[in-house]
Amino acid sequence: MLAAAIGLSASIQSSAAEPAPAGAFPKGFLWGAATAGHQVEGNDVNSDVWLLENLKPTIFAERAGDACDSFNRWPEDLDLVRSLGLNSYRFSLEWSRIEPDEGQFSNAMLDYYKAIISGCRERGLTPVVTFNHFAIPRWFAARGGWDAPSSAGLFARYCERTAKALAAQIGYATTLNEPQLPHLLRWQSTALPTDFQQRLQRMFVDAGKTTGSEHFASFIGGNTQKMDPNLLEAHKKAYNAIKSARPDLSVGVNLAIDDDQEVNGGSRRDEKRRDAYGSWMDACKSHADFVGVQNYGRQRIDASGPLTPLAGAELSQMGTEVYPASLEGAIRYAYKASGRPVLVTENGIATTDDSRRVAYIPDVVSGVLRAIQSGVPVLGYIHWSLLDNFEWIFGYTPKFGLVAVDRLTQQRTPKASAQTFGRIARNNGLPE
Ligand code: BGC
Repeated sequence: MLAAAIGLSASIQSSAAEPAPAGAFPKGFLWGAATAGHQVEGNDVNSDVWLLENLKPTIFAERAGDACDSFNRWPEDLDLVRSLGLNSYRFSLEWSRIEPDEGQFSNAMLDYYKAIISGCRERGLTPVVTFNHFAIPRWFAARGGWDAPSSAGLFARYCERTAKALAAQIGYATTLNEPQLPHLLRWQSTALPTDFQQRLQRMFVDAGKTTGSEHFASFIGGNTQKMDPNLLEAHKKAYNAIKSARPDLSVGVNLAIDDDQEVNGGSRRDEKRRDAYGSWMDACKSHADFVGVQNYGRQRIDASGPLTPLAGAELSQMGTEVYPASLEGAIRYAYKASGRPVLVTENGIATTDDSRRVAYIPDVVSGVLRAIQSGVPVLGYIHWSLLDNFEWIFGYTPKFGLVAVDRLTQQRTPKASAQTFGRIARNNGLPE
């Protein structure tokens, strides 16, 4: 009934979770953990981010290096996900491995990712696959990255080729990861250095010299005015390309969404929402079977703009307020604004004190349940992250993982929070 009312595609209707009995999550609800290629694979040497990390000077605190060596250790990672009791794994494909030079596609790398997808299926895990998670091929960055109008077509070609090879066993596909993040960052009080943009621009010039390019641009630090239309077009074309490979596959996009809260009269909240999400919510109405919601907190906004966290608020290692109820707010907003079902594709906290994560997860999950009980179709909750991994410019200091990784031996050790989350997943909901 609800599905018909909001015009869901046949694919979503058949794969969406069934309605929840009171207090429980819908049957088939996805409980997962997420990673992203550059952050865990290691030696992603043909990507723009690898190049930037290795420049001197660089804004990156350290290099990704071997990362979590998941490039080789993915079977162990999937075994872990399964042993925790989860039923889903989200990961991303590294475009720079699949298309190492413009127009040259690697069948070996397509087979490699196909094996991971099959590996998920063999272990009863639904693979949620992101086609691009921030890092782009060096050659693509050297031709202007997302600033270049030709970027949309190039991304769609990569998606078409890749989807033809991989789509058959994918559970849910997403095109881009947080394409509107630069807008969101402008509204947030984050741990980013104040001269972040200027330093990045200087690095782009250096990266241009290394690659023989006059216009080297990465996603973060790209020119938003130029990138915005190209990213929107890239998503729409990629959506069509993936659907053409397998029409019944559910395809969405991962959006970074705060729980934006109005404070006092005349709040600029709706201005922020228009700026940070507006065009993407519109795009989802026509070009998404679900919205991937990625939420890391709330933002209080008054008439002057965004406010810093309240005095005494608990802060994460990223400097953001730890506020578990924010996910529920973000889910409700995303559904209302897009009319599409929601899949929580990222949510978590950066903390070295895992007891905070142990407390956080059940709180967040109860918010998801409240949203479901009030009629919002939520397909699953995927925690960020499976592993302590490479947190971009911050290096390995922030700890988002359910599982600790020894940087020398690569040994994985599940934390108490992994057990907490696993119990919820096995129970398909919070214990009574
Ligand atoms: C990104 C991840 C990142 C996480 C935590 C999200 O914006 O998709 O790559 O690690 O936030 O900062």
